[in-house]
Amino acid sequence: MSILSELSEEFGAAFVALGLDASDGEVAVSQRPELAQYQCNGALGAAKRAGRNPRELAEAVIAGLPDSSRFSDLSVAGPGFINITLADEVLASYVETIRTGDGVGVMPREAPARMIIDYGGPNVAKELHVGHLRPAVIGESLKRIMRALGNEVIGDVHLGDWGSPQGQLIAELEDRQPDLPYFDAANVGPYPVEPPVAMDDFNEMYPTASNRAATDEEFKERARQATAELQKRRPGYLALWQHFRDVSIDAIKAVYDELGVSFDLWHGESTIAELLDPLIERVLASGVARISEGAVVIDVALPDDKNEIPPLLMAKSDGATLYTTWDVATIQDRVDQFDVAAMIYIVDARQSLHFEQVFRAARRAGIVGEDVLLEHAGNGTVNGADGKPLKTRDGGTPLLRSLIDDAIDRAAQRLAENDLASEYSEEERSEIAHLVGLAALKYGDLQNHRASDYIFDLDRFVSFEGRTGPYLLYSAVRMKSILRKASEQGLTPGVLAPATGEFDRNLMLALLRLPEIVSRAAEHRAPNHIALYAYELAAEFSRFYEHCRILDESDGSTQASWLGLVELCLRQVTFLLDLLVMEVPERM
Ligand code: ARG
Repeated sequence: MSILSELSEEFGAAFVALGLDASDGEVAVSQRPELAQYQCNGALGAAKRAGRNPRELAEAVIAGLPDSSRFSDLSVAGPGFINITLADEVLASYVETIRTGDGVGVMPREAPARMIIDYGGPNVAKELHVGHLRPAVIGESLKRIMRALGNEVIGDVHLGDWGSPQGQLIAELEDRQPDLPYFDAANVGPYPVEPPVAMDDFNEMYPTASNRAATDEEFKERARQATAELQKRRPGYLALWQHFRDVSIDAIKAVYDELGVSFDLWHGESTIAELLDPLIERVLASGVARISEGAVVIDVALPDDKNEIPPLLMAKSDGATLYTTWDVATIQDRVDQFDVAAMIYIVDARQSLHFEQVFRAARRAGIVGEDVLLEHAGNGTVNGADGKPLKTRDGGTPLLRSLIDDAIDRAAQRLAENDLASEYSEEERSEIAHLVGLAALKYGDLQNHRASDYIFDLDRFVSFEGRTGPYLLYSAVRMKSILRKASEQGLTPGVLAPATGEFDRNLMLALLRLPEIVSRAAEHRAPNHIALYAYELAAEFSRFYEHCRILDESDGSTQASWLGLVELCLRQVTFLLDLLVMEVPERM
C-alpha cells in the first residue's frame, strides 16, 4: 500500500471513531513542504457538517491515532488543518520496503479491467505525418500506464482503409496501368503476389488522385464507383486494395517501430465491412434509424444539448457507408470480440463531434451497454512558432519520419557540443544520439497535457537542461555511472538508514509519491503527470547528489544507505521513462 493510502486509512478510522466519515481522513502531500510533509484537511468540512469546532475536532482525530510515535510532528494548524511529518526512521522504513521489493511501489488493481485503446488512425497509402505523433506517443504511454496498474489493454491501430481514397487510388492506377489484371471485371483471380505499387508511388499518386477527384467530375464519379465496388468486394479491386494495405502497413509499422509504439491489433475500418449491412438493417428495423432523403440517419440530439448535435449518417442515399458508420460498427465488433469494459480513443480533439455522435448512436442502438465506458480522450495539436499547426518550410505537412530524423540529428549535435559520448565508438555514439533524439521528441510532446496544443521547438526539446527528455536520460545515466563506480570500488547498496538531512529526506519523500502520480495519470488519461514527476524526481536526485557526497562518505552504513537510494531512484526513473516510451542508454 502507498504511504498516502495507508495514512488516509489510519486518519479515516480516527474520523469514523468520532462518528464521522472515513473519507474525511484523506491525507495528501503537503502544499507547504516547509511546514509539513503531509496534511489532512478533512476536519474542516467534517466539523461544519457536525456543527463542531474544527480545531477541537482535529485535536480529537490526532488523539485517536493508534501510534503517534511514528510521527515527528502531528499538529493542528490554522482553522483546523492537520500537519503531518513522519519520524525519519518510519520514512526510511517505508522507502526500504519498496527498495527490497521488486517493484516501484505501484499497487496493481485488484480487479483488472480489459480495455481497448485506439491510438493510431493512419490512412492507407499515406505516410505518417505530424498529426500522428500525439495519438501515437500519448496512446502508447497510456497503454503502458494502464498495464502497470494491472489492466489488460489491447492497443488497436484502427487503420483508415475503407474510404473514398481507396477508390481514387484504384481509378488513378487504372488510368496509369489499364492492363493490370485487377481492372478486368471478368478476371476473378488469382492475382499477382507482387504489389504493383510501392510506398514511394503512393506519395506521388495519392495527392494527384485526390486533386483530380476534387477538380474532375468524370474522375470523381469513376472513383466513387470504384469505392462502392470495392466495398461490395469486387475481387480484382479487393486484391489490389489488399496490396495497398500491405505496402502501407510495412511503411507505417517501420515508423511506429522506431518510435517504440506498437499495436496488438492491426484492425482497420475494413475489419467490420461484413457487419455493415446487417447493422443498418437492424437499426432501421428497430426504429432507431430513419430514412432522410434516401439516406439512413440516427438522431442523436438530446434535449439538454447546448450545441446542436446533428443526426449521424449511417448510409448515404447511394448506399455507401462512411467514417461514422464504421466507428459505430467497430464498437459492436469490439464488444463482441473482446468483451471490454472500456474503449478509449486517443484521437485529435477536433473530432469530438464525430465521437459524440458515434457514442450516442451506439448507445441508442443498444450496441453497447451503459456498463462499457466509451471515451474520446482528445489530443491537442502540434503547432509551429506562429501558433498554427506545424508546417514544413514550403507549407506542407511535415512527415513523422522527418521529425524523427531531425530530432536525432539535433541530438547528435547537442551531444557533440556538450562533449558527451565523444570518446565512444561511432556506432555507440549514434545509438546514443538515437535514444536522446527520440526522448527529446517524445518528452517535448508528453510534457504537455494531452488536450493542450503545444509549440514544436526542437531546440528546446534537445537541450540537456530543464524539463527535457535529454535531461532525464542524462540523469538516469548518471545514476548508473554512480552505481558502476561504487561497485568498482567494492561498494554495494544497502539498508536505508534514517535521513541525515534535508536532501536525502526530500529524495525519500519524492520517491514515495510515485504510486499516486501513476494513478492520477491513468485516471485523467494524462501522461504529462508522469513527465512532470519524472523531472521533479530527477531534480531532487540531483540536489541530493550534490550535497551528499556518496563516494567520499566515511561512514559505511550511511554510504550504503545512500547507494540504496540511488539504486531505487534509478529503478523508479527507468520505470517512469518506460511509461513515457523512453529508453535509457548505458552511458553517455
Ligand atoms: N483515420 C482517421 C483520420 O485520419 C482517424 C481514425 C481515428 N480512430 C477512430 N476510431 N476513428 O482522421
